[in-house]
Amino acid sequence: MTLIKLPSLLDPHVHIRDLAQSHKEDWDSGTAAALAGGYTCLLAMPNTTPPVTDTAALTQYQQAARSRARCDYGLYLGASDTNIETAASLAPQSCGLKMYLDQTFGPLRMEDLGSLMAHMQHWPADKPLCVHAEGRTVAAAILVAQLTGRAVHICHVSRKDEIELIHAAKDRGLDVTCEVTPHHLFLTAASPSPVGASSTGEGRGGGYREVRPRLATESDRLALWQHMAAIDCFATDHAPHTQSEKESGNPPPGFPGLETALALLLGAVHDGRLTLDDITLRMHTNVKRIFNLPDQPDAHVEIDPDLEWTVRAEELHTRCQWSPWEGQTLKGRVVRTVLRGQVACEYGKVLAQPGTGRDISNQQSTI
Ligand code: DOR
Ligand code: ZN
Ligand code: ZN
Repeated sequence: MTLIKLPSLLDPHVHIRDLAQSHKEDWDSGTAAALAGGYTCLLAMPNTTPPVTDTAALTQYQQAARSRARCDYGLYLGASDTNIETAASLAPQSCGLKMYLDQTFGPLRMEDLGSLMAHMQHWPADKPLCVHAEGRTVAAAILVAQLTGRAVHICHVSRKDEIELIHAAKDRGLDVTCEVTPHHLFLTAASPSPVGASSTGEGRGGGYREVRPRLATESDRLALWQHMAAIDCFATDHAPHTQSEKESGNPPPGFPGLETALALLLGAVHDGRLTLDDITLRMHTNVKRIFNLPDQPDAHVEIDPDLEWTVRAEELHTRCQWSPWEGQTLKGRVVRTVLRGQVACEYGKVLAQPGTGRDISNQQSTI
């Protein structure tokens, strides 16, 4: 067995839920999943209930995270059409601003071009600003960021035209960065079943396939690989919903991903499509730089690149208890995740306790 030591993983895009949606995930289960996946820091999205758009909600989430998180974290603020000044005033206590420009899970959606421009003008230039943008809103976000003289990060790019646009913008020297998820790198709308086949060979139903951005075409998927040079980060967009919710008449979009991301990408290393350096760059170095994350002393992950394991939902730490990769055998496994010199997880057993994670937004909290 050859163990390889890598810098610990940092995920800039995770949905932790908690509070009114603790049945899907909370800070305890979500950060346990993160440590099992090799992550020591995650940045949590604000499309929660309540959404993180004001001081009261931010304070509630700070308290929940402080008491339950097992790894380090940051909290995003959510942009709305009405919180432009409030968001900017709370910036020091958050890891970034998230703007939803297209429909997805939860009510946080900005409709107004004026609000997009105002947030880009008011949000501090030294703090990350991320957008959920699809198709034409990617172009809108890049243009307004350019006009307001600030950087913008495009979340979960999934389509050929989007990655081509971003690549062209980067070639022109525009201040744009982007992330891609493992599910958009490995699955398409035509994949047999994103949740693994049942014993009869059939998938478990359409609700499990719902995710935003939607799984795309093979040509879109291949374009992401062709434009790997333009992809700054791999982010999971870990978005847990329960099985009964996914099987309901109105299934919410989202896949869990924290516990499978690294193994899937190590599969691409085995296939010769990526190198370990590509992984470290996109799951550590670039995330740290773009999101301005502090050093985590004595943090690393040890992997066994050859260890094969089969994804079994009941062995995962995420509370949603299912995986798009259920039943699949992946090659490459996290053996140990170390944070602050302590073994936080070993062979899937999480040792770090709730409440030991720290808020990386270095300013004082509202608590
Ligand atoms: O599929 C998704 N689920 N995409 C998003 O943008 C949000 C996420 C969620 O919060 O469930
Ligand atoms: Zn999104
Ligand atoms: Zn998301």
